[in-house]
Amino acid sequence: MNILLTGGAGYIGSHTAVVLMQEGHEVIIFDNFSNSKRSVLNRLEKITGKLIVCIDGDIRNRSLVKQTLQYYKIDAVLHFAGLKAVGESSEDPLAYYDNNVAGTISLLMAMKSCSVKILIFSSSATVYGVPHYLPIDEKHPTDPESPYGKTKLQIEQILSDLAKSDSSWRIFALRYFNPVGAHESGLIGEDPNGTPNNLMPYISQVAYGILDKLKIYGNDYDTPDGTGVRDYIHVMDLAEGHLAALDYVGNHNEAFSVMNLGTGNGCSVLELVNLYEYEASKKIPYEISARRTGDIAACYANPEMAFLKMGWKSKKTLREMCFDSWRWASTSLQKHKD
Ligand code: NAD
Ligand code: UFG
Repeated sequence: MNILLTGGAGYIGSHTAVVLMQEGHEVIIFDNFSNSKRSVLNRLEKITGKLIVCIDGDIRNRSLVKQTLQYYKIDAVLHFAGLKAVGESSEDPLAYYDNNVAGTISLLMAMKSCSVKILIFSSSATVYGVPHYLPIDEKHPTDPESPYGKTKLQIEQILSDLAKSDSSWRIFALRYFNPVGAHESGLIGEDPNGTPNNLMPYISQVAYGILDKLKIYGNDYDTPDGTGVRDYIHVMDLAEGHLAALDYVGNHNEAFSVMNLGTGNGCSVLELVNLYEYEASKKIPYEISARRTGDIAACYANPEMAFLKMGWKSKKTLREMCFDSWRWASTSLQKHKD
């Protein structure tokens, strides 16, 4: 298939590009590089041994998207492009609604006019909000707190309405839990700008000596060791999940579905720190600090639907997630020290 990856130069998109190309698909990346670097393209070529086609553009540029869909005879779109910083979305909600919601509407209009009707959308577990029960299945009520989370839910609602209006669409919204880890080559991985907000890249920067110590946001939660529990999933497993989703939408008559992509296992902050220390053979100094506003005690997936429908389940262990994060950190972080 000819597959367009919006946001394909970013963290999850670049790993998915590798998996798709290795399966023999033609991948066309469409990215405005607002949160990624062009150097990822050379790295993808090194990993796959293939030339990467990349369009430098914004999904809100509808005529460029249309031209791209037509010129490359695109069969399906994997839509990763979006802004994703929870805190920033409260400071500048308009930027999030414009980029994520208006950007998606523009993309959908371009797709509709070119009769490209297969779409896999990057949604998030954040659409569930505060868990009413665990593990979280797809029937769990949705009630996101941040503007970022609201953009994801609004997009899901738009996609659902679109599919109701025209049952020839094949749309999958994948609700990711906490993606971590990196490709085994150590050539691509998560490379956040500035000080990381998320746990794993923060730990990596402490392990590499760029940051002094980790702040653990609260050890008085109602969890086994008091620290926050999340469902960390290896980014390569997530990438495989997209391949399974593409296969599924091509073979079933469902116009719109949502699905969790998680492991089903909860891991606490302290457990992750201990595993990382072991895998990297590095001490991770930490201090316990106050809870972070908006954080929840625990969040992990019921991943059964993905297995029942698509035969997909995560394979990689937390140790592999830590090891691969460290391997990537130790090859990529030198520039932060310089
Ligand atoms: P990322 O920031 O690394 O990648 C997103 C890519 O989209 C970047 O390369 C960025 O330059 C590009 N982009 C952003 N806006 C664009 C626009 N208007 N036009 C063209 N390109 C644009 O993020 P990621 O971690 O790879 O996440 C991919 C998707 O998955 C996002 O939609 C995100 O919200 C979602 N998601 C991520 C996580 C996570 O923890 N990483 C969890 C759940 C959902
Ligand atoms: N944490 C710390 N110290 C840090 C960073 C995080 O103790 O420096 C803790 C948090 O309190 C939480 C856990 O580590 O208990 C995980 O925090 P992350 O920031 O890594 O991840 P979140 O679960 O808060 O959120 C992430 C993404 C969201 C996404 C959600 C579900 O940031 O965009 O996963 O996919 F919606």
